[in-house]
Amino acid sequence: MTVVLIGPPAAGKTRIGKRVARLLGVPFVDTDKLIVAAHGPIPEIFSSKGEPHFRSLERAEVVRALDTSAVVSFGGGAVLDPETQRDIAALPVVLLTVQPHAVESRLGNGKRPLVPDLASWIALYEKRRDLYERLADHVVDTSDRPTDQVAADLAGWV
Ligand code: S3P
Repeated sequence: MTVVLIGPPAAGKTRIGKRVARLLGVPFVDTDKLIVAAHGPIPEIFSSKGEPHFRSLERAEVVRALDTSAVVSFGGGAVLDPETQRDIAALPVVLLTVQPHAVESRLGNGKRPLVPDLASWIALYEKRRDLYERLADHVVDTSDRPTDQVAADLAGWV
């Protein structure tokens, strides 16, 4: 079984994905973590080689991740790739959303070069919202709910 978690940065994809995987008794795979393990910190990839290079590394890790039976958490921009959109079309895809008020405290750690602050996060989310919603089979808002509760709901849906 492969379940895919998509959504904007800071929606809790990693935090909740880990918990869902544990509840389901399957591995957890995070495409950002695979990229970092193979190529180093994401901000450095963006600054030294640029976003298109990052996206090609990301696409390779998406292919690798989808080859496993796991809960797979995508980096927020992984679904921009049309081939990735096709690859996940037949899989259960969960969109994790979050409201702006809950995002602010999760940003600003220097780990997300595309969204250094709330204004850039809002702009990025607005640009992608339709795409995220089109790809999702199930939508869960993570804003004001404990991780355990969201994870239990999700594990029940899968
Ligand atoms: C990105 C999201 C990040 C990371 C990279 C680009 C994006 O992952 O892949 O900084 O384009 O939305 P998270 O969604 O885990 O923050």
